[in-house]
Amino acid sequence: MNVPVNTPSIDDGDIKAVLDCVKSGWVSSQGPYIESFEKSFADFMDCRYAISVANGSAALDVAIEALRLPKGSEVIIPNFTIFSPAISVIRAGLVPVFIDVNIETCNAEVETILSAVNKNTSAIIVVHTYGLTTDTEELINQIKGTQIRIIEDCAEAHGIRTKSGKRVGALADISTFSFYPNKLITTGEGGMVITNDASIIQGIRELRNIGFSEDLPRYQHTWLGYNYRMTSMQAALGSSQLKKVENHLTRKYKIGEKYNEAFEKFDTKYLFLPPTELNGSKNSYWIYGIRFSTESEKQKFQKYLSDNKIGNRDYFYPLHLQPALKEQNFRVHDNSTNTIELSKTGIYIPSGLGITDEQQEYVIQKIQNYFK
Ligand SMILES: Cc1ncc(COP(=O)(O)O)c(C=O)c1O
Repeated sequence: MNVPVNTPSIDDGDIKAVLDCVKSGWVSSQGPYIESFEKSFADFMDCRYAISVANGSAALDVAIEALRLPKGSEVIIPNFTIFSPAISVIRAGLVPVFIDVNIETCNAEVETILSAVNKNTSAIIVVHTYGLTTDTEELINQIKGTQIRIIEDCAEAHGIRTKSGKRVGALADISTFSFYPNKLITTGEGGMVITNDASIIQGIRELRNIGFSEDLPRYQHTWLGYNYRMTSMQAALGSSQLKKVENHLTRKYKIGEKYNEAFEKFDTKYLFLPPTELNGSKNSYWIYGIRFSTESEKQKFQKYLSDNKIGNRDYFYPLHLQPALKEQNFRVHDNSTNTIELSKTGIYIPSGLGITDEQQEYVIQKIQNYFK
């Protein structure tokens, strides 16, 4: 058997939705498919505005630029995440400040975020990592009365409810999502920006559309914008997927819980399993990540998985060590020992929505044999 690290869940309804869209002739970013997907996503998130974009990295680009943060000001980012937030911040003429994450949860703690705030801080990017969540509600309470803006990167945390019952991403000034095929719902490539702030909404729409101004005559541009428009086919797939989002979440919980049950009895001195909840939200197991006590233990295990055709992937690489940042202006707030350790010792195993029960049984059985 061959078990890929991720396969999406795409059914006949999804295929029909895309076909219907193509047949309708609405294939660009204009028309009813985009409008309908944006409206459904805003309803799902219980927010005023949702603007579709080409991918999750594009969502971060336009979100950050639309906030018009003072050039040269600092933006706090967890050191343990995808490269995208750092790129967006630097391209917007801002200075990323990398903070360490908790070694067990892979997420930044509010206390650490606050310790990095200074008079030059203009924004905080909260990244909810691997299906667990940082306590944005607490963070918002703590920074009340300041000018600091909060951006939530929810690419790995769609649909999760916070302790107050809101969905993750519903509380920040602006939040971003990715719909890459390993995400809870997919549009192939794709992303979304959501906000309740009417003052930035036009900027987001203009930025995604090459900066075409909504106020000036056509071909007059007020931003150095991007073509980050989503196509109608992607939106048709997204609308169809969104109808099944609760089922997808339930399935993810089941996949994670099944692994937990199977691995709980292993010696925890060598193997660390993900927490089942954090800050009042259940782990949605965007990926099922495990960590070893040493890098060589991890590598030995990875080889065993690969020999048995079981897909797996390393954890993120620390942002402050990224080769592309060598010549860039950034700050590392702390020694980031947890981030470095996680990147050396952590991997994730097949946990995508498309994994069959049979495939998961195979993965479990092989891993149980390894630890026997
Ligand atoms: C936390 C986070 N933010 C942003 C992105 C970028 O999304 P995309 O691949 O759609 O550009 C990802 C991608 O996996 C991600 O995990």
